[in-house]
Amino acid sequence: GSCHALVPAAGSGSRMGTPADRPMPKQYLQLAGRPLIWHALATLCATPAIANVFVVLAPDDALWPAAQMAALGPKLRVLRCGGETRAQSVANGLREMAGELGDIGHDWILVHDAARPCLTIALVEKLIAEVGEDDAGGLLAVPVADTLKRAYDGGRVLETVAREGLWQAQTPQMFRHRLLLDALDFAPAVTDEASAIEALGLSPRLVAADVSNLKVTYPLDLKLAEWILENRDK
Ligand code: C5P
Repeated sequence: GSCHALVPAAGSGSRMGTPADRPMPKQYLQLAGRPLIWHALATLCATPAIANVFVVLAPDDALWPAAQMAALGPKLRVLRCGGETRAQSVANGLREMAGELGDIGHDWILVHDAARPCLTIALVEKLIAEVGEDDAGGLLAVPVADTLKRAYDGGRVLETVAREGLWQAQTPQMFRHRLLLDALDFAPAVTDEASAIEALGLSPRLVAADVSNLKVTYPLDLKLAEWILENRDK
């Protein structure tokens, strides 16, 4: 089936530590001379297998740099239907995509965080190739490297969690349109799309990615991402 990207970008970026009286959503922080979100959108637009790239903005977003983004070409389409949570932003986006494209229930949707600017075309193509036509879909992920501790109140160790078999979920996460919309209706309180699919009893495929596909959450992540982007292909 055809592939389309959906990039939720309606968050406020509260953990970036920008002043509360002058909030700058993190997708618009400058990274290597462009807004953070530009980088992932550019990669997705440049991936031949992806037919359309939909970005979901907050309805009142006044910072979207329309002229700069228009240069990414006609694949990029803007939806102003962001919701209260990431999952709601994705569900709203899925509904509006169907309104614009028609019958896409069987098409693949690659949901990608605006906050993962170091995505590469090669990783997107690996995900698409490894998921293939597997109806459970799949996601990029990396094996957990650290030893994990479960805490109880007071900040003491309750137990060590064996890291064997544990993966950190990344994005893109790739599912069929109809299935993902049904899953998000069934399990709306999820922090990624795969969790909603799992709630339906399906088992998405884990596709080994790279730690360089990091999520910008804290200020240090911006520096790391900038270094990765500027030292790539050299
Ligand atoms: O805040 P966090 O890093 O988990 O956000 C992940 C992604 O979800 C970001 O791209 C953010 O813009 C998006 N998001 C959204 N709508 C919300 C909250 C987050 O589109 N209500």
